[in-house]
Amino acid sequence: MKELFGRLADGTEIHRWSLENGGTRMKVLSYGGIVQCLETPDRHGRYANISLGFDRIEDYVTSSPYFGALIGRYGNRIGKGRFTLDGETHRLSADDGENSLHGGEAGFDKVVWEVEPFQRGTDVGLRLSHTSPDGEMGYPGTLTAQVTYTLTAEGDWRIDYAATTDKVTVVNLTNHVYWNLAGEGSGTIEHHELTIAAARFTPTDPGLIPTGELAPVTGTPFDFRAPKPIGRDLRTGHPQLLAAQGYDHNWVLEKGITAEPEAVATLRDPASGRTLRVATTEPGMQFYSGNFLDGTLVGPAGRAYRQGDALCLETQHYPDSPNHAHFPSTVLRPGETYRSTTVHSFPA
Ligand code: BGC
Repeated sequence: MKELFGRLADGTEIHRWSLENGGTRMKVLSYGGIVQCLETPDRHGRYANISLGFDRIEDYVTSSPYFGALIGRYGNRIGKGRFTLDGETHRLSADDGENSLHGGEAGFDKVVWEVEPFQRGTDVGLRLSHTSPDGEMGYPGTLTAQVTYTLTAEGDWRIDYAATTDKVTVVNLTNHVYWNLAGEGSGTIEHHELTIAAARFTPTDPGLIPTGELAPVTGTPFDFRAPKPIGRDLRTGHPQLLAAQGYDHNWVLEKGITAEPEAVATLRDPASGRTLRVATTEPGMQFYSGNFLDGTLVGPAGRAYRQGDALCLETQHYPDSPNHAHFPSTVLRPGETYRSTTVHSFPA
């Protein structure tokens, strides 16, 4: 189903598509490819919206910390907003102090995507397309991006990303859903239990740019190899947690880059009985514990979002890869196709 959600200041119509399959319901906006609502049942079959969002387009345009949005051209930060590729230095839009975050000031979360619904066998979904002109936000090359959201008969939400370029460039696409498995607006996620299949993470400098080190998680608050409540080590005073006001780091997934999505994380809310499983082809995942939610934004149910009221699990290549030769490469050349897949499942 397609309906009018609102209009941008210049009159552009923003549409909202509703999808349902296998017990999962979602609503997606043409603006930013935003997942505006994602509903799953709890252990008693009661539905709740488990992703933070707004019910007015104006709020997404002016105040959203990327709620539910597609992120591009580059997920997470590029240090000092610059990188050098084949001898040429590129300067990006700096939207986070001197750094460039999530594609710059007007990234893929702020563009109006072309949206085509589809049905294929037992799958339903949306095909989102966007062409980013050469030089947009400082990135070289015309980037033609296609993102497919599929809801499967099992109720899985699968994202397939693809992109091509006409000049050498870098690309790192992801999605920025803020999860609260007890329902948006229901309070803290500190009691959610998280598992991440990673023995190392990438520590950051005070500006949240990776130092380049791949540090072991053993004996640190960053060890999520066994299920752990998110709040358990949050107040330990670990310098990396103090600098980021919580978790806001990239985990080095043990499996590395894979041709097919492999399971990397499980999030469980003991109270509601809801579980989210994440599988991906990507080598990294940013776990962000909602540190910068500060009680100034109000969700669709009229409840304010405070620090730690949601978390993000953003599958990706590592932040600032263009400036770290030993990180897996994010370079895309003409003639190649960037591909990435992430599957979110909601086992009962
Ligand atoms: C980043 C955070 C940032 C958040 C929302 C996350 O992906 O790692 O530092 O505050 O997105 O902007």
